[in-house]
Amino acid sequence: MEIVHVAAECYPVAKAGGLGDVVGALPKYQAELGHVAKVVMPMYRTKFLYTNEWELVHEGGQQMGSHFFHYSVIKEKTNKLGFDLYLVDINGLLDREKIYGYDDDTERFMAFQIAVCDWISKWTHQPDVIHCHDHHTGFIPFMVKYCFAFSKLAGIPTVFTIHNAQYQGWISWDKYYYLPAYDSYKWGLLDWNNMINPLASAVKCAWKVTTVSNSYLEEMRYAANGLENLFEYERGKSLGILNGIDTQVWNPETDNMIVKNYDKELVEKGKMRNKKELAGQFGLDPDKPLITFIGRLVGEKAADLLPEAISQSIYQHHGHANFLILGSGDPELEDRLDQMKHQFKGYYNSYIGYNEQLSHLMYAGSDFLLMPSRVEPCGLNQMYALRYGTIPMVRTVGGLKDTITDFGDWQGFGIRFNEASVWDITYSVGRAIDLYNNKPDLYSWMRSHMMTIDHSWDGAAQQYINLYQSLK
Ligand code: ADP
Ligand code: GLC
Repeated sequence: MEIVHVAAECYPVAKAGGLGDVVGALPKYQAELGHVAKVVMPMYRTKFLYTNEWELVHEGGQQMGSHFFHYSVIKEKTNKLGFDLYLVDINGLLDREKIYGYDDDTERFMAFQIAVCDWISKWTHQPDVIHCHDHHTGFIPFMVKYCFAFSKLAGIPTVFTIHNAQYQGWISWDKYYYLPAYDSYKWGLLDWNNMINPLASAVKCAWKVTTVSNSYLEEMRYAANGLENLFEYERGKSLGILNGIDTQVWNPETDNMIVKNYDKELVEKGKMRNKKELAGQFGLDPDKPLITFIGRLVGEKAADLLPEAISQSIYQHHGHANFLILGSGDPELEDRLDQMKHQFKGYYNSYIGYNEQLSHLMYAGSDFLLMPSRVEPCGLNQMYALRYGTIPMVRTVGGLKDTITDFGDWQGFGIRFNEASVWDITYSVGRAIDLYNNKPDLYSWMRSHMMTIDHSWDGAAQQYINLYQSLK
């Protein structure tokens, strides 16, 4: 099959979170299964762009409202990532350092989607499926069906994967003219609550809708940032496919971003060596359990609870655990988490910012990884933690619920709690300290057991193929 993935992120080209990891891995595994997998994404000014070789494959131009833009499509020459990678360059709009966060993100991603449809409509053949990811690509299922300029594409099946329904890309109706001319009877397919809503539109127009775990699919029917009824209505064409992880990138035996490689047999020594490195860098005590958090500092991740939960845990458990945070997001929270370093010197530290290498070292060198998320469609961190022998401490929600069991249950290998609250986190920290200090056999069994759990993409990549095949 020929599959075209369209997304705003793809690791290692550009990544802001788990979307990048998924789009960097799924096509590779689909290619390994013998399919032609392509990724089309915006051309940002990232290191990957400047350190690789490209060929020009197409140049075109299109109208976005009254604005005419030129675009070009370049292809990475060597198939370095294991799939065909195409970048869409639109001067002045896409070629920036960051992926998101600009005032004109609406225009940027609208132009990107128009360019993608225009380019594919110039192909001499048609792909078997166009697979769009999240709201930045959410107009494509509508555009291929109803925009006159792309009528040639109307028969191509579209699949839309929701990685996160919190962000929907709302646009006010006074920008309706950005979309290329379409059958105006269909305007309702763009609308949700009097706004143009690309996520809602994709759910209405795509042939199939997937989310990244089964639990999240269920949860969206009663908590989807205003789209609950839509998910209930479209339940019949929706399904959950749990993400995998790229076991070539995330492998403690070969990872060159950590200081000591290890496998299941050498896990104790290997982790200790990495922990000592972290403890040295951040002024922590390697003999105490190290509990870390890695992620976006936003409400969904319940990162706002961290300052209070960490202070309470340090007081209530008499400093018997150390904490380390890696994250960026809400500026006020960044400041608080940064300031706390001085108050809890020797017990707590943080790195505010994005640091891929440090994240690997933290998965390897931590004893526990905390994820108190309010919303977690899938979550990849907990799966990386399992692979690196780090015990996940997770709130029972979304993909966390589908991947982690509690050590109090039969053969459980993690720590679960029900509420995103300071109390639940502090209590769980107590359980972690007790496990670390007083239950060495159980702790060591959990570690080696979790490292054997297979969360590779093999199964999920095939599930997507089966889904595409069902659309033929
Ligand atoms: P989300 O996509 O909602 O942010 P996921 O758990 O799916 O959550 O994936 C997060 C990804 O981003 C993981 O690869 C994680 O290691 C990475 N990550 C998040 N924040 C940072 C950071 N500050 N520095 C480095 N990596 C980060
Ligand atoms: C989103 C979700 C996260 C998921 C990731 C990849 O960003 O917040 O839970 O793992 O996408 O699908």
